[in-house]
Amino acid sequence: MSSAGSRASLEKRPDEVQTMFDEVAPRYDVVNDLLSLGQARRWRKVVVDAVGATPGQRVLDLAAGTGTSAEPYADAGIDVVACDFSLGMLKVGKRRRPDIDFIAGDATNLPFTDHAFDAVTISFGLRNVNDPQQALREMYRVTKPGGRLVIAEFSSPVNHLWRTMYLEYLMRALPEIARRASSNPDAYVYLAESIRAWPDQDHLAAWLAEAGWAQVAYRNLAGGIVAVHRAFKPEAEPAPAAGPLAKVRRARGRSR
Ligand SMILES: C[S@@+](CC[C@H](N)C(=O)[O-])C[C@H]1O[C@@H](n2cnc3c(N)ncnc32)[C@H](O)[C@@H]1O
Repeated sequence: MSSAGSRASLEKRPDEVQTMFDEVAPRYDVVNDLLSLGQARRWRKVVVDAVGATPGQRVLDLAAGTGTSAEPYADAGIDVVACDFSLGMLKVGKRRRPDIDFIAGDATNLPFTDHAFDAVTISFGLRNVNDPQQALREMYRVTKPGGRLVIAEFSSPVNHLWRTMYLEYLMRALPEIARRASSNPDAYVYLAESIRAWPDQDHLAAWLAEAGWAQVAYRNLAGGIVAVHRAFKPEAEPAPAAGPLAKVRRARGRSR
């Protein structure tokens, strides 16, 4: 198997990430199933249940790749938009599921109006985004007040022994399996490194709160190998915080 493919660095330059996913696209789903040892399907079900969308609602599946994470919504008759910035991934997706609405877009600058979706979800995508905190703000912008966000992402196993075994799998076994199965094995070295460098469950929860999301909670899967975060956009937008400028204005007002 050739290893001439490209891989992104931990800097996550958007052009490098895009090219890398374009290259893994043809065998993305097969390799995914292999590497997750068949767990990916179970994790996807947890995400769909957490989104809890009903027919008539509009869902954005962001960083949707080949659309595997968007399929369950389409199958349930829910209006789902699958958005990703890798044209390679989108092409494979459109070929597989012509009935799903695939849209090219960058998570940090979404091509949607404010309050366009009842729910936004992103599975195994946020970690690859160059500016994930900006992406969380964009997801907030396009969600209706009262709407929800569900994120599935690799995270930090809570048990020390489990964590050691998992890191061993990530750094040694996973690149070897990918070498045999993927169209771009080097991309899976990036996968392992980016998982190790990604913030843990509580850190991501704090980012969500900073972006304005409320009722932030998460659930660990496979002992924390994956975490599913869920949060809501408040019904009423919070009043702008009284920053230093506001204090200066108030002080000036008093002296007049
Ligand atoms: C590991 S795949 C996940 C695909 C799908 N959600 C799934 O669960 O199978 C990550 C996806 O994130 C996309 N991605 C990374 N950065 C992005 C960005 N800034 N905007 C949109 N998509 C992005 C990549 O193109 C890739 O398709």
